[in-house]
Amino acid sequence: MFDTLPMGGNSGPTGHAGTGGRPRHARTGAARGGVPSLGDPDFTKFECTLSPHTLGTEYVSPPHVRPTTQLVTLCAMTAEPVAVPHVVNVDLTGRTALVTGGGSGIGRACALRLAAAGAAVLVVDRNVEAAKAVAAEAGGRAEGIDLADAEAVDRLDTDVDIVLNNAGLQHVAPLPDFPAERFAYLHRVMVEAPFLIIRRALPQMYDRGWGRIINISSVHGLRASPYKAAYVSAKHALEGLSKVVALEGAAHGVTANCINPSYVRTALVESQIADQAATHGIPESEVIEKIMLARAAIKRLIEPEEVAELVAYLCTAPAAFITGASIALDGGWTAN
Ligand SMILES: NC(=O)c1ccc[n+]([C@@H]2O[C@H](COP(=O)([O-])OP(=O)(O)OC[C@H]3O[C@@H](n4cnc5c(N)ncnc54)[C@H](O)[C@@H]3O)[C@@H](O)[C@H]2O)c1
Repeated sequence: MFDTLPMGGNSGPTGHAGTGGRPRHARTGAARGGVPSLGDPDFTKFECTLSPHTLGTEYVSPPHVRPTTQLVTLCAMTAEPVAVPHVVNVDLTGRTALVTGGGSGIGRACALRLAAAGAAVLVVDRNVEAAKAVAAEAGGRAEGIDLADAEAVDRLDTDVDIVLNNAGLQHVAPLPDFPAERFAYLHRVMVEAPFLIIRRALPQMYDRGWGRIINISSVHGLRASPYKAAYVSAKHALEGLSKVVALEGAAHGVTANCINPSYVRTALVESQIADQAATHGIPESEVIEKIMLARAAIKRLIEPEEVAELVAYLCTAPAAFITGASIALDGGWTAN
């Protein structure tokens, strides 16, 4: 029933050449033919239901755990290695942080970064084993729940100083075919869960006169791409929620901001390089620039650790005036 689609699905802003306006699905191996240019961030691996006119895709998250390191080397994914040192000087000793989707990718990097700064981290993820692994690395706690389950969300320990709403998933389908239940599910995970968590976390933050709400949005919180009705609308909703929190929280020392990445390098991105190269008939070394980064001015992926460094900065005292903002980390993607 499911097949794997290369990174970014086929809903990128570069369109769907040769598909008559319909997205095409990609099959594995020789059956895969002519997946359109992608250039579209947000997620890297999808499962799609295969039918002539319906492409339903959901992001599949990995239980991947990468060794903790301050220097991250990009293997074959960029021409030059990129180091991501901890440059933000912030002491979060005595602070607590809740990180959703902390078992993987950006959430994992943020959980580890906050822990490195001294915070006690609660890693929340539906992938229990991944959450436990990251929590162990971070010296924190793990909670395995599906954030679409409002009752489970309401049982979370939200008495924290920092909330990082990061968990997300993708579903790609043209609007006439978009499954209503998937639309609702994405909104539960990416809008309702952040709302429920924030609603319960704010009173304690208000009592302490300090709090940080950081929402991992996307360039799709600022721009749309076709076939991503649920994801784009959920990210836009998250942007609105973040701004309201900023307005209400300002008097209580609570800031709320969105971070808007384009393509972020994850294990799943890496895993798609070979597929993309085969699909497009180009060398693996050209996949990122020609396919994934077609729209970005800076032709490399963002490191999860680069997102994490911004998260750390938003927790510093000098960042206290940054609120209600949407901070693009997109290599010029939205400038284009
Ligand atoms: N990877 C990118 O290129 C990219 C670009 C822009 C924005 N983002 C955003 O960054 C965030 C993290 O993405 P990532 O690339 O690190 O993905 P990821 O899969 O590596 O991490 C997402 C984590 O969220 C968890 N998760 C997903 N659905 C969940 C649910 N219902 N309940 C609990 N946990 C759930 C997954 O298990 C996973 O561990 C997402 O909100 C995504 O929209 C990613």
